Amino acid sequence: MAGKWTTAELVVGNVYDTTFYVNPVDGSPYRYRATHLDGRRAPKVILSDDERIRPGSRTRVRLEKVHKPERADRGWLQVEVLDVLELEIEGIYLDPIVSKKLQVLLESGLNILLDGPQGSGKTVLAKALAETLGMEFVFFNCAAVLEATDFLATIQVRASDSGSPITDFVSTDLRKALLEAGESRKKRYLVFLDELNRCPEPARNALMPALDSVRKVFDPVTNSFLSIPDNVQFVAAVNRGRAFSATFGIDAAQLDRFAPLQVTYLPAEEEVKLLRRRHPEVTRSRVELVVQIANVVRDNPEVVSGLSVRATEEACIYLAHPLLESADDDMFAEILKSSFCGRHPGSWNEPDTDAGIVWRLILDAMDAWRKVKGRR
Ligand SMILES: Nc1ncnc2c1ncn2[C@@H]1O[C@H](COP(=O)(O)OP(=O)(O)O)[C@@H](O)[C@H]1O
Ligand SMILES: [Mg+2]
Repeated sequence: MAGKWTTAELVVGNVYDTTFYVNPVDGSPYRYRATHLDGRRAPKVILSDDERIRPGSRTRVRLEKVHKPERADRGWLQVEVLDVLELEIEGIYLDPIVSKKLQVLLESGLNILLDGPQGSGKTVLAKALAETLGMEFVFFNCAAVLEATDFLATIQVRASDSGSPITDFVSTDLRKALLEAGESRKKRYLVFLDELNRCPEPARNALMPALDSVRKVFDPVTNSFLSIPDNVQFVAAVNRGRAFSATFGIDAAQLDRFAPLQVTYLPAEEEVKLLRRRHPEVTRSRVELVVQIANVVRDNPEVVSGLSVRATEEACIYLAHPLLESADDDMFAEILKSSFCGRHPGSWNEPDTDAGIVWRLILDAMDAWRKVKGRR
């Protein structure tokens, strides 16, 4: 029966599946809390302090005791943890090795550098893990930083009543989060520094003391140094294309402040699953062909930058639309021309440019696919 368990239905000694998260109740002696057993809502919360629990991971438990069974509004379920299964996050593919390493690093408090091509899921991964681990997620786009002070405040100029200009400092989300973290020491903050390699070198250098044992950053609003509370953890992301190492920008001393973690595109069958879940109107064979051609592009050493999962998803959005759902092979190639070639420098009809190379790869892959289809 779906819906909620009644206390009478639960059997002490039986084994159930559950998922624990960080207990949001301040001051509780139990670090972890779960609300469901075998996918159905439990009549009382399940609490545990077992060290083996990983927030967000499916866990097998044996029911030991129902506390205050007679009270609908009180009590809790005491369980014995049998084993902790892999972390699962709804709608997100987690590489088992990357996600284990990331969990360890997040628990250790080290700064983390996620290094991988654009659209390989770095942002979704960091955000989803933060939520699962009960951390506040603070997104900061480093590509918009021009000067060191931009990390904490932007300057806005407005006219006063008399017409003369007044400059105001407006706190960035990062500054707000750092101040808030100082106040609420129980909460943990994950500051995501997106595209760290795209901010200018001097600005990045000014951020470095925030990332080492000094843990201070200059605050232009108060004209003094702001300490970074230890409940703040930094995760930076860089989009490193194949040939970008020369222009990559982050030097060894800066890199050394991070525990690096390489992220790659998800395996083809997982990308197909993900896209099919999001766009069930598109046939499996079409989605498979989109992903197959994307991987030909990603693996080709002549093409400098990667090809985001946003690109494969965009192709599926076209293919799912009633205007294009009966697209023939030529139309299919046209869709990839905009979604794939359009993301690379140059133009599809200039064979020497990246976009031109991608167009050739698309046509070759479609020829090969037609031959296979013809043989079937
Ligand atoms: N492993 C993944 N699981 C789920 N979605 C993914 C994954 N990788 C990429 N995506 C999808 O691709 C898009 C780009 O992901 P994003 O995290 O923004 O990439 P990045 O930060 O590496 O540039 C998002 O829409 C996301 O839903
Ligand atoms: Mg990103």
